[in-house]
Amino acid sequence: MYELGFFSRLEMTHHDYPGGLDSWPLHLVTQRLNPDHHGDYNTWAQAIASLPDMDSPRLVVGNEVQIHGNVDTDQLILALQKLHPWRKGPFRIGQVKLQTEWRSDLKWARLEQGIAPLTGHRILDIGCGNGYFGWRMLNAGAREVIGIDPTILFCMQHQAINHYLRDARNWVLPLKIEELPATHQFDSVFSMGVIYHRKSFIEHARQLFDLTKLGGQVVLESIVTLGEGFTPETRYARMRNVWRIPHTDELKECLRNAGFQQIKVLDISQTTTAEQHSTPWMRFESLQQALDPQDLSLTVEGYPAPVRAILTAIK
Ligand SMILES: C[S@@+](CC[C@H](N)C(=O)[O-])C[C@H]1O[C@@H](n2cnc3c(N)ncnc32)[C@H](O)[C@@H]1O
Repeated sequence: MYELGFFSRLEMTHHDYPGGLDSWPLHLVTQRLNPDHHGDYNTWAQAIASLPDMDSPRLVVGNEVQIHGNVDTDQLILALQKLHPWRKGPFRIGQVKLQTEWRSDLKWARLEQGIAPLTGHRILDIGCGNGYFGWRMLNAGAREVIGIDPTILFCMQHQAINHYLRDARNWVLPLKIEELPATHQFDSVFSMGVIYHRKSFIEHARQLFDLTKLGGQVVLESIVTLGEGFTPETRYARMRNVWRIPHTDELKECLRNAGFQQIKVLDISQTTTAEQHSTPWMRFESLQQALDPQDLSLTVEGYPAPVRAILTAIK
């Protein structure tokens, strides 16, 4: 039996789950954090089990999410590299700087001043990756962050981080937005980098509305185009399952039709290779290889290169 973090399949009981989510399909969490669900589960679980001990770990959140404490660096690198690829971050654990594919701190910097204060909020972060933003949200005053992400590796990366922190305020559950019932509402709902993976924007906006408390806020982040919205023929910037690249007006309209008010565009920024790039912790190809080498304003498929927008709205 592996010795895992306390959110693990082996140790997690319904009693440990975040409160108030009794109507959620939490049985899927145990089903999915399981070798029968993913062939690499045991490798990842063993990696977590092999994490070296740390004396009195301490969380320090800045642009890097850091865990301070004495730990064997070589053993730590070996264990964490088994959870490759690390996409969202950066993290620093002991002396190990986990340079992730994304400088997610840059996205946080673009939104933190513009959103309603998170103080005391219970937050739902849809498509939360490994939970990096959850730590930023808690540091901004949130009470609890329930992250959901169907990619099991990202749930395991969160378990590795939380192996040291054992912080029951930041969750990464292997669930999809379409599996959540509308029975529980949150003070803030984040959907960042998810909507263009969903076939129906209207349905996604409706789900965001259902999951937000009256008076609560939604933060919607998406790839957008500055021209007319389009549907990629096959891939977009080498990504499969990108259903549509909208104009911000289309996103505003979806939010308005779902019932949201006070819709604002906080930011529109071109994604740069400084923000998204390959690193020793994400050794696969990244944005650079997704752009036309002759014309960096285009993707390799000939579409406009990724620009991302952040919108907020109130229910
Ligand atoms: C582009 S990443 C964005 C991660 C993070 N939110 C950010 O902004 O950096 C999209 C994430 O959404 C997750 N995802 C894909 N389909 C989803 C769904 N139906 N429900 C929830 N998350 C989903 C993916 O596993 C992936 O981690």
